[in-house]
Amino acid sequence: MLSHDIKLDSYNTFGIKTTAKVLFSFTTPEQLQEFIQSDKKDPGSVIVLGGGSNILLTEPLERAIIHPNNRDIEVVEETTTEVVVRAEAGLVWDDLVHFALDHQYYGIENLSMIPGNCGAAPIQNIGAYGVELCEVFEKLEAIDLQTGALVSFSKQECEFGYRDSVFKNQAKGLYCVTDIYLRLSKIPRLQMSYGAIQKTLDQMGVSSPDLGDVSKAVRHIRSSKLPDPETTGNAGSFFKNPVIETDFYQSLIKRWPEMPSYPVSENKVKVPAGWLIDQAGWKGYRHGNAAVHDLQALVLINLGNSSGREVMELAKKIRMDIYEHFGIRLEPEVNIWDRCGRNIEL
Ligand code: EPU
Repeated sequence: MLSHDIKLDSYNTFGIKTTAKVLFSFTTPEQLQEFIQSDKKDPGSVIVLGGGSNILLTEPLERAIIHPNNRDIEVVEETTTEVVVRAEAGLVWDDLVHFALDHQYYGIENLSMIPGNCGAAPIQNIGAYGVELCEVFEKLEAIDLQTGALVSFSKQECEFGYRDSVFKNQAKGLYCVTDIYLRLSKIPRLQMSYGAIQKTLDQMGVSSPDLGDVSKAVRHIRSSKLPDPETTGNAGSFFKNPVIETDFYQSLIKRWPEMPSYPVSENKVKVPAGWLIDQAGWKGYRHGNAAVHDLQALVLINLGNSSGREVMELAKKIRMDIYEHFGIRLEPEVNIWDRCGRNIEL
């Protein structure tokens, strides 16, 4: 379906009020193919917008937006121990988590309540509480935005990394994901290494947790720290957790002995950006109608009527200050779009 001069307020979880000239939503890959082929578009002339949970819009969009609106789920393969589930790109991610919980399929319970749609999940390899999408990912199907051809990407071809994939690099802007396939387990297998999960289960009085309990614990942790986009515009973590050299980290902890870190490789560690921003005193800071969330410094929020520019200016200030404070450069996790849907560097 083709629409013109669309308000994008409900298409981005930051709740930025802006518009798009053209929006094409589809419920079958064939409709998208037809749209692409009817108009022989350049890959740069259309942009894909799913649940809008990882973007910051700074200007009205001039390019045609493609919005997946296909929402089916089906089990396409089943053995006694595993299933492969196909989920369409327009399905809300958490609806897929609920489907898995209802059928006792293990693997994505720690990813409960992550905002956004299934099609966007592989783009940034969503992750939380000790689990990343790539661990259960089988393959995806996508439409080539230049030719309209239906293509398939294996897990290896997706080149997943921490909040990263080929779709944020060489394949950026070239495809629209239409379906994702996940391999889930029918055998109980819970991931509770993340300290807060165990702590929350203890508080819930659960000693031998099942699938639903872990999801409940994750939902509890998320709701206690992260603002609900329905009431407070935000896009989750605004920055990635920076990865730095272990030697550099050793020099930093001489001055900040409390600085947390997680090992990444032999000579690299990840440092929580939320901790750095918090330490530098930014929690609750307000810039116009944009602010740093007062419970989780990694999340920037729209206090109502904030422009995308205001949020971007706030992010820039924070980035500069963290560099001055710690010598660490933060990179945004959120995609900051200009009027053509191109990423703006901070
Ligand atoms: N911290 C602070 N102050 C803050 C925020 C965090 O001191 O304001 C400290 C915490 O005490 C903790 C550490 O920083 O020691 C890490 O915090 P937390 O466990 O909340 O996780 P995070 O590193 O801030 C990451 C993901 C989240 C994900 C959580 C849980 C990134 C960029 N963010 O946050 O993902 O939910 O871990 O796994 O990797 C998202 O991507 O949108 C997102 C919310």
